[in-house]
Amino acid sequence: MSHSRGLSGAGPATGPILAVRALDAFYGRAQVLFGVELALGRGEVVALMGRNGAGKSTTLKSIVRVGPSAPSRVEGELRFEGRDLRPLPPYRIARLGLGYVPEDRRVFAGLTVAENLEVGRRPARAGAPAWTRERLFALFPALAELQRRRAGTLSGGEQQMLSIARTLIGNPSALLLDEPSEGLAPVLAERLAASLGGLKGEGLSILLSEQNLAFATALADRAYVIERGRIRFAGGMAALAGSEELRAAYLAV
Ligand SMILES: Nc1ncnc2c1ncn2[C@@H]1O[C@H](COP(=O)(O)OP(=O)(O)OP(=O)(O)O)[C@@H](O)[C@H]1O
Ligand SMILES: [Mg+2]
Repeated sequence: MSHSRGLSGAGPATGPILAVRALDAFYGRAQVLFGVELALGRGEVVALMGRNGAGKSTTLKSIVRVGPSAPSRVEGELRFEGRDLRPLPPYRIARLGLGYVPEDRRVFAGLTVAENLEVGRRPARAGAPAWTRERLFALFPALAELQRRRAGTLSGGEQQMLSIARTLIGNPSALLLDEPSEGLAPVLAERLAASLGGLKGEGLSILLSEQNLAFATALADRAYVIERGRIRFAGGMAALAGSEELRAAYLAV
């Protein structure tokens, strides 16, 4: 596959927006990812499924390498918009338009909801409408009423919405979401799936890690299954959801 880059630096308009090849990751001397391969197409929603400890978060953290819990060593090829991510520090990766929402929902507890959003604000992206507070509140109506509340006082579900909203206001072209449904009551998970479905409708590319099959099925076109750091399945979401054998072998259900 060739990875020619547009003159604007925006990258090729064809090919996957995110491509991961032969990814190995290590925490200290312990290797936890082995040759992981995955791709995210433009405007596609892809689920990375697997049980606890399978390597979902490590895969996402290897791509963005944010925070102290990122793997200490990452080998392989990581390309976003055709650009090699490996030499770039995390803030440069974010500026390229790759948004990341970690599993521990890192909101600024002492700041209000509105202030948290301001922290995430980044310039608009060419060819895409800019995210404004108004658009975010239309997407997550519950947040509108919480603007003046300190983020630390929000429920887990509200913090999850804020964490996603804060990433969106940075105007990313792709989103990595680490287990967005985790810890949410079923009705909130359904609402979040509907909101994320709206983003997909606008052409945002989303890679989400999930254990919740219903949530992933509601959103994703394709799925990968990871087990003990290796990709065991790559195919249609419906094929995975419909296979009792695959579900029994690799998923919690
Ligand atoms: N900071 C770390 N230091 C050492 N080992 C780690 C670290 N984070 C994860 N691991 C190990 O790496 C492996 C993959 O973990 P990872 O967090 O990627 O799994 P996961 O699929 O996200 O699981 P979960 O569904 O519980 O979030 C596990 O064996 C885990 O114990
Ligand atoms: Mg995880």
